[in-house]
Order: sequence, then C-alpha cells, then structure tokens
Amino acid sequence: MRCGELLIRSYDSHIDRARVEDLERRCEVGPAQRVFLFTDTLGDPICRIRNSPMYIMLVAELDNELVGVIQGTIKLVTLHNLTKVGYALGLRVAPLHRRRGIGLRLVLKLEEWFIGNDVDYAYMATAKDNEASVSLFMKLGYVNFRTPAILVNPVSHRMYHSSSTVEIKKLMAEEAEVVYRRFMSSMEFFPDDIDSILRCKLNLGTWVAYPRGESWDYSNGQFPSSWAMLSVWNSGELFKLRLEKAPISCFIYTKSSRLMAKLVPSCFKLRDMPDFFHPFGFFFVYGLHREGQASGKLMRTLCKFVHNLAIKSSEDCKVIVTEVGGGDRVKLHIPHWEFLSCPADLWCIKSLKNEEGTQHVNDLTKAPPRTLFVDPREV
Ligand SMILES: CC(C)(COP(=O)(O)OP(=O)(O)OC[C@H]1O[C@@H](n2cnc3c(N)ncnc32)[C@H](O)[C@@H]1OP(=O)(O)O)[C@@H](O)C(=O)NCCC(=O)NCCS
Repeated sequence: MRCGELLIRSYDSHIDRARVEDLERRCEVGPAQRVFLFTDTLGDPICRIRNSPMYIMLVAELDNELVGVIQGTIKLVTLHNLTKVGYALGLRVAPLHRRRGIGLRLVLKLEEWFIGNDVDYAYMATAKDNEASVSLFMKLGYVNFRTPAILVNPVSHRMYHSSSTVEIKKLMAEEAEVVYRRFMSSMEFFPDDIDSILRCKLNLGTWVAYPRGESWDYSNGQFPSSWAMLSVWNSGELFKLRLEKAPISCFIYTKSSRLMAKLVPSCFKLRDMPDFFHPFGFFFVYGLHREGQASGKLMRTLCKFVHNLAIKSSEDCKVIVTEVGGGDRVKLHIPHWEFLSCPADLWCIKSLKNEEGTQHVNDLTKAPPRTLFVDPREV
C-alpha cells in the first residue's frame, strides 16, 4: 500500500489511537467562517463504525507522522433492489499536509477495499458548503444524490406535558423489526440488518403513538386509524460533540439567557439554550414513519416524548437530532431550531461496477426522492 513516501495502512489501535485522536482534535469540519464541530471519541476513534456489519479505518503516514485518516463501512440496503453499498466517512487530513493529494489517495484506497468486497455503490455525506470535501469527491466521479435535512432541537430543562388523547407504546425489538420490514423496507437505504440496529445496546427503543381508545395489535395485522413511529439511538454513549467559534448570535444567546435567568428567575421566559461549548451527548431519532390523517400530531407527540426521555434518562444529552429526506413532509412535524439545523446535507454516490451501475446511478439521481432511511450508525 505504498504510494511514494505516503504509507496507507489499516488502523492499529496500539500505535494509532492517540495519534488519530490528536488529528481529530486538530481538524475542524466545515467552512472556516462558521461553526466548528469537534468530536470526542472517548478513547475509541473507531467507535462510529464499530456497530456496522463490516468496517475499516485507514491511516496515512508520512515519515512516521500520521497525516490522514478515513473510515468505511459496508452493508446491504434497499436501492433499486437489495444492493451492497460502501459508506465513506471521517475523512481527515492534517491541516499542514492539505492539498497534496492525501485525501484523494485515502478515498481511492478505501474504494479498493469496497471493490474487493463486491460493493456496488460508494456514497458519502457532507455539509453542502464543505467545498474541500465536495470538490474532492466530485473529482473522483461522485455525483449529487440526495439532500436530506438535519433537524436539531435543544433539550430544555422543562418537561413537555403528555397528551391525554394519545397512547404511546414501546415496542419489543422483534415487533419493531416486523413493523419496519412491513412499512419501510422499500425506502431508500433501508438496511437489511435492521434487526441488529434494533438490538444494539445504543438503541434506546422504538415507540408508536396512536389515538387513545384504539388498539395496537400488529400480530393480527390491525393498526390504529392513525399512528406514528420512531426509534431513538443514544449517540452520546459513543462520542461527544463540542462547538467552537459558534456564530455570535448563538454565543450571545447562551450568555444573555443565563444572565437573565440569574437576574429575573421568576419571570424567565426564554427557552434556555444549552451550553454547547463543553462536550455533550445527543440522541439520534431515526426510522420515522406515519400512517393516517392524524399522524402529524402523533409524530409531534412522540418527539415531545423523546425530549422528556432525554431529560429523564441522560445527564449530558443536550440536543435531539434527526435526519429526513429533503422532500419528506414529516419534517413539518418535528420540532427543531432553524439556526441549529442544516436544511440540506449533501449525499453523493458513485457506481463501483460497470456502466450498467452508472446508468442506475443516473436513474436514481433523476428519480424523485423517496423517503430516506438514515442509519443511526452513520451519524
Ligand atoms: C477535505 C480534506 C480531507 C481534503 O484533504 P486534502 O488532502 O487536502 O485533499 P487533496 O489534496 O487530496 O485534494 C484533492 C482535490 O480535492 C479538492 N480540494 C481539496 N481541498 C480543497 C479546498 N480547500 N478547496 C477546494 N477544493 C479542494 C481539489 O479538487 C483537490 O485537487 P487539486 O489540489 O488538484 O485542486 C481536508 O481539507 C480536511 O481534512 N478537511 C477537514 C475535515 C473535513 O471537512 N472532512 C470531510 C468530511 S466529509
């Protein structure tokens, strides 16, 4: 795997762990004039991919210095049919070594691993305005595929009232799997190993909401007139986030709301903005599905339920995050703060097989977006 002086090899926790963590600390993600989001992997740099069926981390070394890293996972998902896809994530190159082709070579090496494992398509996700990342992948033949919205809602200190007209029920993993396979298996990127996601210890559970008075009896195939469903993944168990160089509005809001809380606690009405400048965890909400006329309200009730769950069950969960397809109307029912959210994340895709595969990619990109299943393991 030698390319000139650059050595690209598999990650070895004994010799690379501390150096990869150090690289991660030195690498901002996103454009310089905006927020820098740092990830603290809590001593396990490979934690983001560990729960995937197949995974790899590659490191790039130059004269014994660790200068770059990339991670990849492989799984089976629904695309035009059941398809093997490789996901490229966590690409980082040390600031002093950028624009020397290291990022490009890391992606190419990862693609070799994908091809060796019979992957049909490689894909990646990035912020639309991450020019470096977008240009790099475009140069390698990736094309724009989908622009899902990342919706972020801060966890406040106050619990929401639960609705007296809505029943909320937690599903067992087996039941959740049956319902997901029945209603969501044709959605884009639905993972074939949904059962292992639902049984993972990071999965806090799957809940359904339906009108009180009706019954939920999935074994007889009977569903309420309207219902909504979601699952919750505790990403904060894996890694923490920390903000730096936040927009000035965000900074002022944090400071001033605290100040006001001290000065006028009894009439304090502003929603208290959490402190994002110290490491914090988050819940990722995925597998959102709804049926029936009243399902929008039921989805909102479920989201409030998740907010209360975050207050009750986690000390450091400061935000609830979800990602839904760009055109998915479910986002109208998910509470979120616009200025913390990202209206259009960018997913790019590339066929690693023959021309027929490329043709499929063209068909996929031209087709109107279907509902997207965002795998919590890829956050
Ligand atoms: C994105 C990143 C990995 C690129 O690494 P790199 O080693 O500098 O990239 P390369 O030298 O291989 O660049 C290959 C091509 O990508 C494009 N590119 C790379 N950096 C770019 C930049 N800052 N602006 C515009 N295009 C850029 C160019 O087309 C470049 O080819 P060229 O140098 O011949 O013009 C690096 O900037 C980085 O670590 N950024 C912070 C972390 C991040 O945002 N990761 C991506 C998350 S998905």
